[in-house]
Amino acid sequence: MAKIIGGITTSHIPAVGNAITDGLTQDPYWKRFFDGYGPVHDWLEENKPDVMIIVYNDHGLNFFLDKVPTFAIGCADRYENADEGWGLELSAPFTGDAAFSWHIAESLIEQEFDMCTCQEMRVDHGFVNPMRVLYGDRKDWPVKTIPFAVNTVQHPLPSARRCHAIGKALKVAIESYPDDLKVVVAGTGGLSHQLQGERAGIINVDYDLAVMDSVINDPDWFAAQPTDEIIRQAGTEGIESIMWLVMRGALGASVNCLHKHYHAPISNTGAGVLLLESAAA
Ligand code: DHB
Ligand code: FE
Repeated sequence: MAKIIGGITTSHIPAVGNAITDGLTQDPYWKRFFDGYGPVHDWLEENKPDVMIIVYNDHGLNFFLDKVPTFAIGCADRYENADEGWGLELSAPFTGDAAFSWHIAESLIEQEFDMCTCQEMRVDHGFVNPMRVLYGDRKDWPVKTIPFAVNTVQHPLPSARRCHAIGKALKVAIESYPDDLKVVVAGTGGLSHQLQGERAGIINVDYDLAVMDSVINDPDWFAAQPTDEIIRQAGTEGIESIMWLVMRGALGASVNCLHKHYHAPISNTGAGVLLLESAAA
């Protein structure tokens, strides 16, 4: 049976992609950010997952504002990167697992989460930068990937509670797949940031740390926060952190935190890294 061996959280800041391309990861500005990934690299090397389900938001590449699904899953064997406007170098294409994706989609819909299923899906920095910080640039990625897109861009957005609930359903979906796959779920985006409007540039360190603590120890606290309260505290784009609750829901009732790192600011964002495993594991 497929087994969830761990959960990861990471920001997906576009400038991180250029820092990798330009060889700046050990530059003093960037080092504090990239140093947060060392233990995650070691863990990935040791545990070698077969599939990474990447929970991310599309920023206007695959879904434009005229058609935005609340939750969407890639059901393809290959995903291409394209640049939605940040001028980022394109990554190598990603290998999917369409059979596993269809199983997950069927299970989620059976559990009354009405997924949009995508047989073609182009992935943007929200998906690609997490892969680049976790694995470095590769011609052949060492893990299959499944894109799991959450609308955090065009209101109305799914609630934090709904994201936690779909994560719990994702656990059921993964663990009912008969193949012996080692699966990691990555929740990406966040933490606090706002890219436009009067409050552009806000970062709320206290709130970010409370969110990280909640995702580890008490996800119901963050899951109970209304969308407007999260935006008030963390900024319009800080709402991306609701995607961490999808990962957290998939890990079960309690977790062991293997690694935690926070640094602010990086670009416009408070950047958090978590590496979790199910306490039952
Ligand atoms: C930044 C962060 C994001 O999550 C994003 O999608 C775009 C920009 C930033 O910090 O600059
Ligand atoms: Fe973003």
